[in-house]
Amino acid sequence: MTLQEYKVRYEQLRQAIDAHLASVTTEEQFRHTRDRVIGRHSGLLRELQAMIPGLAASERAEAGKLFNALHDSVRRQLLAVETALSAAAPAAPALDRTMPARESWRGALHPVSLVLDEICDIFRELGFTVALGPEAETEWYNFGGLNFPADHPAMELHDTLYLEGGGLLRTHTSPVQLRTLQRHPPPIRILAPGNAYRRDFFDATHAPMFAQLEGLAVDEGITFADLKATLTHFVRRFYGTTRRTRLGPSYFPFTEPSAEMHVEVDLGDGKGPRWIEILGCGLVHPAVLESAGVDSERYTGWAFGMGPGRIALSRHGIPDIRLLSESDVRFLGQFAQ
Ligand code: PHE
Repeated sequence: MTLQEYKVRYEQLRQAIDAHLASVTTEEQFRHTRDRVIGRHSGLLRELQAMIPGLAASERAEAGKLFNALHDSVRRQLLAVETALSAAAPAAPALDRTMPARESWRGALHPVSLVLDEICDIFRELGFTVALGPEAETEWYNFGGLNFPADHPAMELHDTLYLEGGGLLRTHTSPVQLRTLQRHPPPIRILAPGNAYRRDFFDATHAPMFAQLEGLAVDEGITFADLKATLTHFVRRFYGTTRRTRLGPSYFPFTEPSAEMHVEVDLGDGKGPRWIEILGCGLVHPAVLESAGVDSERYTGWAFGMGPGRIALSRHGIPDIRLLSESDVRFLGQFAQ
Protein backbone atom coordinates (compact mmCIF):
# COMPACT_ATOMS: atom_id res chain seq x y z
CA MET A 1 0.00 0.00 0.00
CA THR A 2 1.24 3.52 -0.81
CA LEU A 3 0.87 6.66 1.29
CA GLN A 4 -1.43 7.99 -1.41
CA GLU A 5 -3.81 5.03 -1.06
CA TYR A 6 -3.63 5.37 2.73
CA LYS A 7 -4.65 9.04 2.51
CA VAL A 8 -7.64 8.21 0.28
CA ARG A 9 -8.87 5.57 2.71
CA TYR A 10 -8.11 7.94 5.61
CA GLU A 11 -10.35 10.61 4.07
CA GLN A 12 -13.20 8.11 3.46
CA LEU A 13 -13.08 6.88 7.02
CA ARG A 14 -12.90 10.39 8.47
CA GLN A 15 -16.07 11.35 6.63
CA ALA A 16 -17.80 8.10 7.61
CA ILE A 17 -16.95 8.77 11.27
CA ASP A 18 -18.24 12.35 11.06
CA ALA A 19 -21.51 11.09 9.56
CA HIS A 20 -21.90 8.47 12.31
CA LEU A 21 -21.34 11.00 15.08
CA ALA A 22 -23.70 13.54 13.55
CA SER A 23 -26.57 11.05 13.49
CA VAL A 24 -26.46 10.22 17.23
CA THR A 25 -29.59 11.33 19.16
CA THR A 26 -29.95 8.78 21.97
CA GLU A 27 -27.63 7.26 24.52
CA GLU A 28 -28.16 3.86 23.00
CA GLN A 29 -27.11 5.17 19.57
CA PHE A 30 -24.13 6.81 21.21
CA ARG A 31 -22.88 3.54 22.71
CA HIS A 32 -23.38 1.79 19.38
CA THR A 33 -21.53 4.50 17.41
CA ARG A 34 -18.67 4.65 19.90
CA ASP A 35 -18.09 0.90 19.45
CA ARG A 36 -18.33 1.22 15.68
CA VAL A 37 -15.75 4.03 15.61
CA ILE A 38 -13.20 3.20 18.29
CA GLY A 39 -14.02 -0.46 19.04
CA ARG A 40 -10.89 -2.42 19.88
CA HIS A 41 -11.34 -5.10 17.24
CA SER A 42 -13.61 -3.93 14.47
CA GLY A 43 -13.71 -0.14 14.94
CA LEU A 44 -13.11 2.15 11.95
CA LEU A 45 -10.02 3.72 13.58
CA ARG A 46 -8.60 0.28 14.23
CA GLU A 47 -8.89 -0.49 10.49
CA LEU A 48 -6.87 2.64 9.65
CA GLN A 49 -4.23 1.89 12.25
CA ALA A 50 -3.85 -1.67 10.90
CA MET A 51 -2.83 -0.26 7.48
CA ILE A 52 0.25 1.57 8.78
CA PRO A 53 2.62 -1.42 9.05
CA GLY A 54 1.95 -2.14 5.32
CA LEU A 55 3.45 1.23 4.27
CA ALA A 56 7.06 1.88 3.32
CA ALA A 57 9.14 2.64 6.39
CA SER A 58 9.75 6.26 5.26
CA GLU A 59 6.00 6.90 5.00
CA ARG A 60 4.90 5.40 8.30
CA ALA A 61 5.75 8.49 10.40
CA GLU A 62 3.48 10.76 8.40
CA ALA A 63 0.69 8.15 8.34
CA GLY A 64 1.10 7.75 12.11
CA LYS A 65 0.80 11.53 12.68
CA LEU A 66 -2.36 11.66 10.59
CA PHE A 67 -3.77 8.75 12.50
CA ASN A 68 -3.03 10.33 15.89
CA ALA A 69 -4.65 13.60 14.84
CA LEU A 70 -7.79 11.83 13.75
CA HIS A 71 -7.82 9.71 16.89
CA ASP A 72 -7.61 12.80 19.12
CA SER A 73 -10.33 14.66 17.27
CA VAL A 74 -12.65 11.62 17.32
CA ARG A 75 -12.17 11.31 21.10
CA ARG A 76 -13.04 14.97 21.58
CA GLN A 77 -16.12 14.64 19.37
CA LEU A 78 -17.31 11.57 21.25
CA LEU A 79 -16.92 13.39 24.54
CA ALA A 80 -18.86 16.40 23.23
CA VAL A 81 -21.74 14.22 22.01
CA GLU A 82 -21.89 12.32 25.29
CA THR A 83 -21.97 15.54 27.33
CA ALA A 84 -24.74 16.99 25.20
CA LEU A 85 -26.84 13.84 25.62
CA SER A 86 -26.60 13.69 29.42
CA ALA A 87 -27.42 17.39 29.73
CA ALA A 88 -30.63 16.81 27.79
CA ALA A 89 -31.68 13.80 29.94
CA PRO A 90 -33.99 14.69 32.86
CA ALA A 91 -32.02 14.83 36.10
CA ALA A 92 -32.93 12.27 38.75
CA PRO A 93 -34.58 14.01 41.76
CA ALA A 94 -31.98 14.82 44.33
CA LEU A 95 -32.18 13.03 47.65
CA ASP A 96 -32.88 15.58 50.37
CA ARG A 97 -31.22 14.20 53.47
CA THR A 98 -32.45 17.09 55.59
CA MET A 99 -36.14 16.33 55.00
CA PRO A 100 -37.89 15.37 58.28
CA ALA A 101 -38.88 11.69 58.48
CA ARG A 102 -42.53 10.82 57.94
CA GLU A 103 -44.33 10.30 61.23
CA SER A 104 -45.19 6.65 61.81
CA TRP A 105 -48.89 5.92 62.09
CA ARG A 106 -50.51 3.79 64.76
CA GLY A 107 -54.12 2.67 64.48
CA ALA A 108 -56.47 3.29 67.40
CA LEU A 109 -59.96 2.29 68.48
CA HIS A 110 -62.89 4.52 67.62
CA PRO A 111 -64.33 6.48 70.59
CA VAL A 112 -67.56 4.44 70.34
CA SER A 113 -65.61 1.15 70.42
CA LEU A 114 -63.66 2.41 73.42
CA VAL A 115 -66.90 3.23 75.24
CA LEU A 116 -68.40 -0.18 74.33
CA ASP A 117 -65.33 -2.03 75.60
CA GLU A 118 -65.31 -0.05 78.80
CA ILE A 119 -69.00 -0.68 79.50
CA CYS A 120 -68.63 -4.39 78.73
CA ASP A 121 -65.72 -4.54 81.19
CA ILE A 122 -67.80 -2.96 83.97
CA PHE A 123 -70.71 -5.36 83.43
CA ARG A 124 -68.39 -8.35 83.05
CA GLU A 125 -67.40 -7.85 86.68
CA LEU A 126 -71.09 -8.29 87.55
CA GLY A 127 -71.30 -11.62 85.72
CA PHE A 128 -72.63 -10.43 82.35
CA THR A 129 -71.46 -12.15 79.17
CA VAL A 130 -71.72 -10.89 75.58
CA ALA A 131 -74.42 -12.18 73.21
CA LEU A 132 -74.79 -11.27 69.53
CA GLY A 133 -77.69 -11.34 67.11
CA PRO A 134 -78.24 -10.62 63.40
CA GLU A 135 -78.69 -7.08 62.06
CA ALA A 136 -81.16 -8.32 59.43
CA GLU A 137 -84.14 -9.41 61.49
CA THR A 138 -87.71 -10.62 61.15
CA GLU A 139 -90.65 -8.45 62.15
CA TRP A 140 -91.45 -10.88 64.94
CA TYR A 141 -88.08 -10.58 66.70
CA ASN A 142 -87.93 -6.81 66.20
CA PHE A 143 -91.57 -5.98 67.04
CA GLY A 144 -94.22 -8.69 67.52
CA GLY A 145 -92.34 -10.91 69.96
CA LEU A 146 -91.40 -7.77 71.92
CA ASN A 147 -95.07 -6.95 72.56
CA PHE A 148 -95.41 -4.12 70.04
CA PRO A 149 -99.11 -3.76 69.23
CA ALA A 150 -99.77 -4.28 65.52
CA ASP A 151 -100.51 -0.57 64.99
CA HIS A 152 -97.51 0.81 66.87
CA PRO A 153 -96.16 3.89 65.04
CA ALA A 154 -92.56 2.61 65.21
CA MET A 155 -93.60 -0.19 62.88
CA GLU A 156 -94.56 2.23 60.14
CA LEU A 157 -92.26 2.78 57.22
CA HIS A 158 -90.85 6.12 58.38
CA ASP A 159 -88.96 4.47 61.24
CA THR A 160 -87.94 1.13 59.87
CA LEU A 161 -85.79 0.09 56.94
CA TYR A 162 -87.56 -2.90 55.42
CA LEU A 163 -85.67 -5.38 53.26
CA GLU A 164 -86.79 -6.58 49.87
CA GLY A 165 -88.37 -10.01 50.13
CA GLY A 166 -89.34 -9.60 53.80
CA GLY A 167 -87.43 -8.87 56.94
CA LEU A 168 -85.96 -5.59 58.13
CA LEU A 169 -82.84 -4.03 59.57
CA ARG A 170 -83.29 -4.21 63.32
CA THR A 171 -84.29 -0.86 64.78
CA HIS A 172 -82.81 -1.77 68.17
CA THR A 173 -80.78 -4.56 69.79
CA SER A 174 -83.78 -5.76 71.84
CA PRO A 175 -84.41 -8.74 69.46
CA VAL A 176 -81.32 -10.29 71.07
CA GLN A 177 -83.37 -10.50 74.30
CA LEU A 178 -85.78 -12.90 72.61
CA ARG A 179 -83.07 -14.90 70.85
CA THR A 180 -81.17 -15.37 74.11
CA LEU A 181 -84.25 -16.27 76.15
CA GLN A 182 -85.26 -18.85 73.53
CA ARG A 183 -81.87 -20.50 73.60
CA HIS A 184 -80.84 -20.41 77.26
CA PRO A 185 -82.91 -21.09 80.36
CA PRO A 186 -82.58 -18.44 83.13
CA PRO A 187 -80.61 -17.27 85.02
CA ILE A 188 -79.46 -14.96 82.24
CA ARG A 189 -77.19 -11.96 82.36
CA ILE A 190 -76.11 -10.75 78.93
CA LEU A 191 -74.91 -7.66 77.11
CA ALA A 192 -75.65 -7.41 73.39
CA PRO A 193 -73.61 -4.77 71.56
CA GLY A 194 -74.30 -4.13 67.89
CA ASN A 195 -75.60 -1.79 65.24
CA ALA A 196 -79.21 -0.71 64.84
CA TYR A 197 -80.85 1.11 61.91
CA ARG A 198 -83.61 3.66 61.57
CA ARG A 199 -84.99 5.74 58.74
CA ASP A 200 -83.60 8.89 60.25
CA PHE A 201 -81.61 11.62 58.61
CA PHE A 202 -78.27 12.62 60.02
CA ASP A 203 -78.56 15.53 62.40
CA ALA A 204 -76.74 16.52 65.59
CA THR A 205 -78.47 13.80 67.63
CA HIS A 206 -79.63 11.18 65.08
CA ALA A 207 -77.98 8.83 62.61
CA PRO A 208 -79.51 6.16 60.32
CA MET A 209 -77.07 3.60 61.71
CA PHE A 210 -75.87 3.69 65.27
CA ALA A 211 -74.38 1.45 67.92
CA GLN A 212 -76.58 0.12 70.68
CA LEU A 213 -75.90 -1.90 73.76
CA GLU A 214 -78.62 -4.11 75.18
CA GLY A 215 -78.52 -5.48 78.70
CA LEU A 216 -80.74 -8.25 80.05
CA ALA A 217 -80.95 -9.99 83.42
CA VAL A 218 -83.62 -12.65 84.01
CA ASP A 219 -83.84 -14.77 87.12
CA GLU A 220 -86.17 -15.65 89.96
CA GLY A 221 -87.01 -12.75 92.26
CA ILE A 222 -85.53 -9.88 90.20
CA THR A 223 -87.09 -6.48 91.00
CA PHE A 224 -86.80 -2.85 89.96
CA ALA A 225 -84.34 -2.39 92.83
CA ASP A 226 -81.87 -4.67 91.02
CA LEU A 227 -82.21 -2.56 87.90
CA LYS A 228 -81.65 0.70 89.73
CA ALA A 229 -78.74 -0.62 91.79
CA THR A 230 -76.97 -2.10 88.79
CA LEU A 231 -77.38 0.94 86.55
CA THR A 232 -76.36 3.32 89.33
CA HIS A 233 -73.27 1.21 89.93
CA PHE A 234 -72.51 1.38 86.22
CA VAL A 235 -72.87 5.17 86.05
CA ARG A 236 -70.62 5.65 89.09
CA ARG A 237 -67.96 3.39 87.61
CA PHE A 238 -68.18 4.96 84.19
CA TYR A 239 -68.63 8.68 84.88
CA GLY A 240 -67.26 8.92 88.39
CA THR A 241 -69.17 9.24 91.66
CA THR A 242 -69.74 12.99 91.41
CA ARG A 243 -71.73 12.95 88.18
CA ARG A 244 -75.46 13.56 88.70
CA THR A 245 -77.93 11.09 87.22
CA ARG A 246 -81.68 10.72 87.34
CA LEU A 247 -84.22 8.06 86.45
CA GLY A 248 -87.47 9.23 84.87
CA PRO A 249 -90.63 7.49 83.71
CA SER A 250 -90.83 6.29 80.13
CA TYR A 251 -92.66 3.88 77.89
CA PHE A 252 -91.53 0.86 75.90
CA PRO A 253 -93.88 -1.94 74.79
CA PHE A 254 -91.43 -4.57 76.04
CA THR A 255 -90.85 -3.26 79.57
CA GLU A 256 -93.26 -2.49 82.40
CA PRO A 257 -92.62 -0.27 84.24
CA SER A 258 -90.28 1.60 81.91
CA ALA A 259 -87.75 4.29 82.69
CA GLU A 260 -85.00 6.32 81.13
CA MET A 261 -81.75 7.34 82.71
CA HIS A 262 -80.33 10.82 82.28
CA VAL A 263 -76.88 12.05 83.09
CA GLU A 264 -75.83 15.66 83.52
CA VAL A 265 -73.16 16.72 81.05
CA ASP A 266 -71.52 19.84 79.77
CA LEU A 267 -71.04 19.45 76.03
CA GLY A 268 -68.58 22.32 75.94
CA ASP A 269 -70.74 24.37 73.55
CA GLY A 270 -71.11 27.26 75.99
CA LYS A 271 -74.70 26.39 76.85
CA GLY A 272 -73.78 24.95 80.24
CA PRO A 273 -74.62 21.56 81.78
CA ARG A 274 -77.79 19.77 80.73
CA TRP A 275 -79.50 16.39 81.16
CA ILE A 276 -78.87 13.85 78.44
CA GLU A 277 -80.74 10.58 78.10
CA ILE A 278 -78.21 7.75 77.99
CA LEU A 279 -80.46 4.69 78.17
CA GLY A 280 -83.96 3.28 78.25
CA CYS A 281 -84.76 0.51 80.70
CA GLY A 282 -87.45 -1.32 82.64
CA LEU A 283 -88.67 -4.62 83.97
CA VAL A 284 -89.07 -7.15 81.18
CA HIS A 285 -92.74 -7.28 80.19
CA PRO A 286 -94.26 -10.69 81.08
CA ALA A 287 -95.55 -10.94 77.50
CA VAL A 288 -91.92 -10.86 76.24
CA LEU A 289 -90.91 -13.69 78.56
CA GLU A 290 -93.92 -15.70 77.44
CA SER A 291 -93.30 -15.14 73.72
CA ALA A 292 -89.79 -16.57 74.24
CA GLY A 293 -91.21 -19.56 76.12
CA VAL A 294 -90.11 -18.43 79.61
CA ASP A 295 -92.50 -18.90 82.54
CA SER A 296 -93.37 -15.34 83.60
CA GLU A 297 -94.91 -16.54 86.86
CA ARG A 298 -91.59 -17.93 87.97
CA TYR A 299 -89.13 -15.51 86.39
CA THR A 300 -88.79 -11.75 86.24
CA GLY A 301 -86.08 -9.59 84.70
CA TRP A 302 -84.88 -6.14 83.81
CA ALA A 303 -83.40 -4.82 80.61
CA PHE A 304 -81.79 -1.69 79.29
CA GLY A 305 -80.75 -0.34 75.92
CA MET A 306 -78.16 2.40 75.63
CA GLY A 307 -76.54 4.33 72.84
CA PRO A 308 -72.75 4.12 73.17
CA GLY A 309 -72.53 6.95 70.62
CA ARG A 310 -74.46 9.32 72.86
CA ILE A 311 -72.45 8.11 75.82
CA ALA A 312 -69.24 8.93 73.97
CA LEU A 313 -70.65 12.42 73.29
CA SER A 314 -71.59 12.89 76.93
CA ARG A 315 -68.24 11.68 78.17
CA HIS A 316 -66.06 13.79 75.90
CA GLY A 317 -68.34 16.82 75.50
CA ILE A 318 -68.75 16.26 71.75
CA PRO A 319 -71.57 18.50 70.49
CA ASP A 320 -72.59 16.64 67.31
CA ILE A 321 -73.14 12.89 66.78
CA ARG A 322 -72.17 13.25 63.12
CA LEU A 323 -68.56 13.67 64.19
CA LEU A 324 -68.60 10.00 65.20
CA SER A 325 -69.04 8.95 61.58
CA GLU A 326 -66.27 11.25 60.35
CA SER A 327 -63.03 9.70 59.21
CA ASP A 328 -61.16 12.90 60.05
CA VAL A 329 -58.06 11.76 61.95
CA ARG A 330 -57.70 15.21 63.55
CA PHE A 331 -60.93 14.42 65.40
CA LEU A 332 -60.42 10.67 65.92
CA GLY A 333 -56.76 11.04 66.91
CA GLN A 334 -57.79 12.81 70.11
CA PHE A 335 -59.14 9.53 71.50
CA ALA A 336 -56.09 7.39 70.73
CA GLN A 337 -54.78 5.82 73.89
N1 PHE B 1 -84.85 -0.86 72.61
C1 PHE B 1 -85.06 0.42 73.22
C2 PHE B 1 -84.68 1.51 72.23
O1 PHE B 1 -84.07 1.22 71.23
C3 PHE B 1 -84.21 0.58 74.44
C4 PHE B 1 -84.60 -0.34 75.55
C5 PHE B 1 -84.01 -1.58 75.67
C6 PHE B 1 -85.53 0.06 76.49
C7 PHE B 1 -84.36 -2.43 76.71
C8 PHE B 1 -85.87 -0.77 77.53
C9 PHE B 1 -85.28 -2.00 77.62
O2 PHE B 1 -84.99 2.68 72.40
